[in-house]
Amino acid sequence: MDTIRTATLNGVATIEIARPEKKNALTQAMYQAMADAIHAAVADPSVRAVLITGQPGIFTSGNDLEDFMQRPPQSGDSPVARFMRALLDCEKPVVAAVTGGAVGIGTTMLLHCDLVYVSDEARLAMPFVSLGLVPEYASSLVLPQLLGHVKAAEKLMLGEPFNGADAVDCGIANAVLPAGEVVNHARRMAERFNGLPPGAVRDTKRLMRAANKAQIQQVMASEGEIFSSRLRSPEAIEAFQAFFQKRKPDFSKF
Ligand code: COA
Repeated sequence: MDTIRTATLNGVATIEIARPEKKNALTQAMYQAMADAIHAAVADPSVRAVLITGQPGIFTSGNDLEDFMQRPPQSGDSPVARFMRALLDCEKPVVAAVTGGAVGIGTTMLLHCDLVYVSDEARLAMPFVSLGLVPEYASSLVLPQLLGHVKAAEKLMLGEPFNGADAVDCGIANAVLPAGEVVNHARRMAERFNGLPPGAVRDTKRLMRAANKAQIQQVMASEGEIFSSRLRSPEAIEAFQAFFQKRKPDFSKF
């Protein structure tokens, strides 16, 4: 099964999420493969930038809900936690090509990339509350910082989906591109780092991220604790079962 494809070409290490039959839902094995790929890219001196991309029409539908129920992440050492840390700590520039739908961590991971290009078909959403969960990847901190509380609340508390143009307005993305061009554009932008001094790029990224980093780590720890306990909550169980039974969840009893 070929669910994460990696390739390094022209100084760019590409991580391609490739599980279209499940809308690129991320299993623990896929998180581990992505974490390993980021560490390998950092260690490889020929790599100047990392590119994360998906499949036509779908970037990722976020955590695989079945995998999540059967193997809930238990500790800070779980594959999803390792992926989040690897991206957060990646000292090289990370570029995202959002090829389509980006749900849950599909959107929150963008907050930790350096350049983000979005397809005009993309639909982003963070429906954590609808799943009986809470935001992750420090989105409960970074999104209100970017948008202010009330606009962040539409996205995090109501889980309202939004398109690429909104993502640009919010400061989550750089530009919207036609669906057929988004990956090539993102790749060209990633390749621009080949012409720049890598030490200065690395130091600049570290400086830009430094002020928020400790707080991001602290918020991720708090979110993680609540997220894990909410995964076992009756609200989440109802939401997950409803998704797989292809019906509307019933939260009236809670
Ligand atoms: N986890 C597990 N399986 C998923 C999944 C996920 N996050 N997202 C999609 N799938 C599966 C579906 O169960 C379906 O499987 P099946 O063909 O065996 O029935 C298949 O992928 C296709 O999904 P479907 O919902 O039919 O596609 P769609 O085009 O109608 O909708 C989405 C696409 C992404 C909008 C929709 O799949 C969705 O909302 N997924 C869940 C997103 C989510 O809540 N993520 C977690 C955030 S924490």
